[in-house]
Amino acid sequence: MDDHSTFDPSQDPQAQHIFRKLAFISDPPQDDTQVAPLFPGYRFDLRLVAGITPIERGGQLDFFIDRPDGMKGWIINLTVDGEGQVFDGAGAFAVKPGDLLLLPPGMRHFYGRARGAEKWWHRWIYFQPRAFWKPWLDWEHCESGVFVLRDSARLRFGELFRLFAEVEKWSVLDDNLSMDLAFNRLEQILLSCARADRAVRNRTTIIDERVLAACTFITDNLHKPLGVREVSEHVCLSPSRLSHLFRKYVGAGVVQWRDAQRVQYAMQILRITNMPIKTLSQTVGYDDPLYFSRVFRKHTSLSPRAFRHRSLRATQQAATGS
Ligand code: FCB
Repeated sequence: MDDHSTFDPSQDPQAQHIFRKLAFISDPPQDDTQVAPLFPGYRFDLRLVAGITPIERGGQLDFFIDRPDGMKGWIINLTVDGEGQVFDGAGAFAVKPGDLLLLPPGMRHFYGRARGAEKWWHRWIYFQPRAFWKPWLDWEHCESGVFVLRDSARLRFGELFRLFAEVEKWSVLDDNLSMDLAFNRLEQILLSCARADRAVRNRTTIIDERVLAACTFITDNLHKPLGVREVSEHVCLSPSRLSHLFRKYVGAGVVQWRDAQRVQYAMQILRITNMPIKTLSQTVGYDDPLYFSRVFRKHTSLSPRAFRHRSLRATQQAATGS
């Protein structure tokens, strides 16, 4: 770790904040967005939640986080101080400052302070990834089903820590652009990890250029009714070959990925324009607005109209500071 000497995680203001709050409560608070997620029973149903868990020996947070069925989304976890233990028995392993864990959805969570350590402070981000992040969520080294990237990967720890803290800072602000900034920082973290991971693998994963061409063709033509056949013709592959390569490199089906891109684009338009939903559905390639609303709801759990209202409200609240 090259910048540990100039960086002191114990000064983290967010952790200090948590200690001050914990000093005044006996029961875990339900409504405090910083402290409630650190205790069992919190529902992680947002697209992104981030925080720091400063576990001290004998403190209120000194228990093993135990989620036998894992979570709906992904977790990335950075040890900032002390030592943690993941799993127990034969599959157990330790994590030290600078080590990162990546837990896929559904993977069992069982981790806490390592028995011999005084503390285990870790930063974490719970997230539902964007479709094109998939290739970065597959690190070389996996222990008992959990991806691990050790400090030896020469990631800059101070920089990583700052990015984790920024994800938390932006994600608690309710407006959409702040959430986009949180996603932007998370994307930087995942890219840095993927880059370090590839250096560790000592090889480069090359994405098939026909798949890349297919992605570009789709994003350049979101308004057109393109299906697997049209895209595969464009990149001179058979539909089944393209589907196979697409799944391999992108981790999703062609139509599934196309829909995810359309929905992302529609979200942008809903946020910044008053375009009627019917026009919008055509702009993003659906002739039938009802079908568009169904696809949109599948990806966001909201109708386009409800999404627009929510963004408007959040923007107004951000503007008035309420
Ligand atoms: C907190 C844990 C943290 C992480 C998040 C999702 O309660 O302290 O390690 O698992 O939940």
